[in-house]
Parts: sequence; structure tokens; C-alpha cells
Amino acid sequence: MTETAPTETRRTLRVAVLGCGVVGTEVVRLLTTQSADLAARVGARLELVGVAVRDTSVDRDPVVDRALLTDDAEGLVERADVVVEVMGGIEPARTLLLRAIEHGAAVVTANKALLAEDGPTLYAAADAAGVDLYFEAAVAGAIPIVRPVRESLVGDRVQRVLGIVNGTTNYVLDKMSTEGLDLDAAVKEAQALGYAEADPTADVEGYDAAAKAAILASLAFHTRVSIDDVDREGITAITADDVVWAQRTGYAIKLLAIAERSGDGVQVRVHPALVPLDHPLAGVRGAYNAVFVEAEAAGELMFYGRGAGGAPTASAVLGDVVSVARHRVLGGKGPVESSYAALAVLPASAARTRYQVRVDVDDRPGVLATVAAVFASHDVSIEAMRQAPAPLGPDGVGFARLILTTHQASEESLAATVAAVADLDAVRRVISVLRVEGA
Ligand code: NDP
Ligand code: HSE
Repeated sequence: MTETAPTETRRTLRVAVLGCGVVGTEVVRLLTTQSADLAARVGARLELVGVAVRDTSVDRDPVVDRALLTDDAEGLVERADVVVEVMGGIEPARTLLLRAIEHGAAVVTANKALLAEDGPTLYAAADAAGVDLYFEAAVAGAIPIVRPVRESLVGDRVQRVLGIVNGTTNYVLDKMSTEGLDLDAAVKEAQALGYAEADPTADVEGYDAAAKAAILASLAFHTRVSIDDVDREGITAITADDVVWAQRTGYAIKLLAIAERSGDGVQVRVHPALVPLDHPLAGVRGAYNAVFVEAEAAGELMFYGRGAGGAPTASAVLGDVVSVARHRVLGGKGPVESSYAALAVLPASAARTRYQVRVDVDDRPGVLATVAAVFASHDVSIEAMRQAPAPLGPDGVGFARLILTTHQASEESLAATVAAVADLDAVRRVISVLRVEGA
């Protein structure tokens, strides 16, 4: 029997790649080295017609044909059927994508910052032009999460999305916990491995996770959520001591992105949290990401994989490229923005969570009762209390460390409780206040 060629590739689709950094280089590698398979899967040859960069004179990976490099991104997008944007930032990425859409190109982007800031402008333009806008790589790198939430779960009612969606901070917290590295050293390692954004502030201050949380919340709740709607706190205040005490008390510290229904609205937040060591999210190591989705009919689902890095992210980008290219070949179009539910986006103060409060107190009779009374007077219920001996204070007097875990409480009550505790004569200092999630 004669083996036939995998496909008849009558058509050629022109692909432009904007950006040739960590992700762009790997996108070019896959487009180049997998071209025969991609053609078979799409039913058309994907011809890489150009790669836009800032500086064409820089030495690049040999997989990138120098002849394809250009600093004329505007000209490039006008001669492509599919435009892949992996340059990052708001401008000129937004203008270039709008121009591509205007010229009838399908677009694929990994740019969560842009989508979380101004996604609706892009969605509307793509909808009006009748072209695809795909962005699987914008959330959690290689993990298929956008498509499952946007398509597979669209017949269900999502209640909550809870995830580790930033590889850099997970890597950093993991290194602090397993190797005792400090935050700066661990961030430098993450940068060297290509996980961190060009400016790692976006990672450590939680902006990157907040952008992803906004995108996921918009998809899950059919509601426009922008990065400005997300209550955000990064990991810069987390100390090595916090990490050690988390472990001693049965938790791992993770930067979590949480989007959940709350009454008639949704609440979206990003913050470090204590996750019980027996919870699957506590076992997510290194730059891996994991997203839990709780849906009414489906129940609990977990998506896990590499959340950052060139090759994993390029995998998600290429999945989108094949999808939009197939639509070109076969006709049709993927889903458009769905924001019909228009739920109210509530502030973090609307959320009720458990907390762990660590305080150093004088080690003498009655102190514990006094501290507990402050919690009670603010209607914050203590679930567990542990007292650990601490070293002598600077004045040579013994003190004790109290670790109090609360039942669910509002942010406002907890803040008032902590302020009142800090004012007590017997309290030396409030060391940390962390939310507890996933318990
Ligand atoms: P890099 O900084 O490594 O690469 C950016 C590339 O874009 C560079 O090649 C740069 O050119 C080019 N570029 C930037 N500005 C311009 C401009 N104005 N005109 C032309 N070219 C420009 O970024 P990454 O590859 O890490 O990230 C790209 C995108 O992918 C971002 O949106 C990021 O958030 C997203 N992403 C990244 C992940 C990762 O793990 N790195 C994971 C998931 C998403 P030059 O080389 O000349 O400087
Ligand atoms: N800087 C991001 C991270 C890349 O660390 O997760 C993936 O979006």
C-alpha cells in the first residue's frame, strides 16, 4: 500500500510573529521545525513571513532566520493572515493587533497585561471584523485553561476559580521554603530561567497574576473584569520567617488568584495565602501553575502544568495558531467575548476568609485571655491557637509567640481586631497576618 502525503496543502497562510524573545523564539522554533505536521493538521501550509523585533542587529537563536527579522512591525501585520503577538506591553502591541484585525488577520496573543487592561476594545474589533482573537497562552503558560473555561464549561455555572497562575512567584516561594533563599536571589534565578516578566515587579507585586485573574473571571462569570477590579497584594512582604512558620503550622505560602461568586456579584483578588499542606495546591512546586475550577454541575476540576517559560508558552500559542488557521481553511470562527451576565464586581472587603495571626506577647498569666477577648469583642471567632516558646526579647525578658487561626471573618473585622491587639500592653508586635485558603 502506498502511503499518502499527510495532507494536500493547497493553501498557504502567512504567519507574522511580533516579538522574538523568550516566547517568540520558541514560537518560531515550533513553526519552523514542525511545519510539515502543522500543515497536515491545519490543511494549509503556515508560512512564516516575518518576525518583528526592536533591534534586528542583536544575535539570536540560530533557529530564527535573520532574513525574516524586521523592525517594521506595522508593515508586517498588513501582509499576514495570522498575527502572533508575543512582544508584551500595552503599546505598540494594542495598535498592532488592532491594525492586524482591521486588515482581516486572525490574531493570537500571549499578552495578559493588554487583555486585562483593554481586552474589550480588542474583542469588539475582532467581532466587528469577523476574525478570531485567541489567547490561551495569556493565562498559566502551557496549561489549557482559557479554552476549557471559555468552551468546555460554558454550559455549566462556575462558582469559583482558585489558582497559582504566576510561575515566578511560585518558584520564589518554593525556593524560599526548600532552600532558604531570600526573595531577591530567588527572583534572579527565575529571571535567568525565562519565567519572570521583563520587569519582575509585575510578578512579585502580583500584577501578572491579577491580569490573569481578571481574564479568567471575565470568562468564567461572563462579566467584564479588568485588572483595576482585582484586589491585589504581591509577595514582597513575605519573609523567610513567614515561610518557616507556615510549614511549622501545617501550611505552604502560595500566591493565589481567586475569583468567586459572592451574593449577586463576583469578587476577584490576588494575595499570598496559607494553603494546608495536604491541599493539592500546596504541592505545586517550582514554576508550575495549577488552577482549580469549581462548577455547579461538573464539581471540582484541576488543571496543572508549566505556567511559564518559552517552550511551554509556545505550545499554547501554537495550539491557538492551529485553531485559527483551521477556521481560515474550513470556514467559521471561534467564540467571541461573552459579558452578558454583567455581574457586579465587589471589593475584597466583601470576601470572608480565615486568617492566621502571629503575635509576640509577654509570657505571663492572663495575656492569652486578654488577646482572645479582643478577638471575641470584634466578633472574630478563633478556630485554633498555638503557643510556641520564643527566644528572649532584646530586654532579656521571655516572651511567647501566639499563632491564632480564625474561622471565616470579614477583612474589616479582622483589621480592627489586629489593630486592637497591637495596642495591648502585653503585645510586643504583630508579626504577620495571612489569609488561609483552601481549607
Ligand atoms: P521578552 O521580553 O523575552 O521578548 C519580547 C520581544 O518583543 C523581544 O524580541 C523584543 O524585541 C520584542 N519587542 C518588544 N517591544 C517591541 C516593539 N516595540 N517593537 C518590536 N518588537 C518589540 O518577552 P517574553 O517572550 O517573555 O514575553 C512575551 C509575551 O508573552 C508577554 O506578553 C508575556 O507576558 C507573555 N508571556 C510570557 C511568558 C514567559 O514565560 N516568558 C509566559 C506566558 C506569557 P528585541 O528582542 O529586539 O528586544
Ligand atoms: N512571568 C509569568 C510567570 C510568565 O512567572 O508566570 C507567565 O505568564
